[in-house]
Amino acid sequence: LAPIAGPGSVELAAAVANAGAFAFLPCAYSDPERMRDDIQRLRTLTDRPFGVNIFIDEPLPHVAPEQLIRAERHLDAYRRELGIPTRAEPPIPSIHYEERVRVVLEERPRAFSCTFGVPDRSIVVDLRAAGVYTVGTATTVDEALAIEAANLDVVCAQGAEAGGHRGSFLHGEEPPLIGTMALVPQIVDAVGLAVIAAGGISDGHGIAAALALGASAAALGTAFLLATEAATPNAYRAALKAARASETTITRAFSGRAARGIVNRVVREMPPDAIAPYPYQNALTRDVRNAAAAQDRSEFLSLWAGQAFPFAREEPAAQIVQRLLEELDAS
Ligand SMILES: Cc1cc2nc3c(=O)[nH]c(=O)nc-3n(C[C@H](O)[C@H](O)[C@H](O)COP(=O)(O)O)c2cc1C
Repeated sequence: LAPIAGPGSVELAAAVANAGAFAFLPCAYSDPERMRDDIQRLRTLTDRPFGVNIFIDEPLPHVAPEQLIRAERHLDAYRRELGIPTRAEPPIPSIHYEERVRVVLEERPRAFSCTFGVPDRSIVVDLRAAGVYTVGTATTVDEALAIEAANLDVVCAQGAEAGGHRGSFLHGEEPPLIGTMALVPQIVDAVGLAVIAAGGISDGHGIAAALALGASAAALGTAFLLATEAATPNAYRAALKAARASETTITRAFSGRAARGIVNRVVREMPPDAIAPYPYQNALTRDVRNAAAAQDRSEFLSLWAGQAFPFAREEPAAQIVQRLLEELDAS
């Protein structure tokens, strides 16, 4: 189970781990207390090892106040439709990166995975000393080489088909989009680390293909979005079931960073000059997304999904894992 912030509940991670697969608990948006609670609760639900995922949050970028106001004014139209208050002052995003790393070092899950960059060398040394395996996310060979140079243990090769945020960190605002089939063997050839393949893999035959390309494991996110234990809001579930395969795209509209999801009104309407940089845009759109989830309004929700989303099934996670294993055996 790939880390999937939002849908990736503690219950989902526990069900996947208990079914015999390795699960990542997404903690990118949890404050440190919630993160510790989630890790401890997961331990009460499974004896199996698991991983914890966070974002490498950079220092906040400089943003012109007018840019934040422009984004706010565009979002105000959605707030009026949702019947929620507009704001005088745009919120400042909070950065908890160092505290989250401290929680990982104290709680010592089996693995730590990160995206949007690599941790400082001293953090990698501390994680290794704590017996925690480290996984970095790469979308290009250069990023995989940076992960190897930073002394991490494993590379997650994230192809362009993947749902959610692109993990890219070396290529500016428009990173190259390399598909999983092309990316995985290039990274396997370029680095001496174990490789996890991610992106567009949603059945056991896809896992077999990833292993044939030289990966040691496959990480699946989208395949679990409709799992019974997933915290996927009802409107998001309905959108996944209603959409056509061609309807995912890469957008910066919700967070300021490139991410793949199902096309909806916000994706279609948000003018590029009304999108603040990450993580500002993420903080600006949060109230809209929360209200949209509560009101079942999928047109205002971030509907992160990979290109293989038609494979997602609404069933208990254990059944999904079982089916994946049977398909893998049959491949
Ligand atoms: C809803 C959703 C949320 C995600 N959240 C995270 C996250 O918090 N951290 C992360 O490293 N990757 C995140 N991803 C990316 C996944 O970890 C993984 O790379 C991707 O799901 C693999 O492709 P697939 O969706 O085609 O299976 C997310 C993906 C989705 C669909």
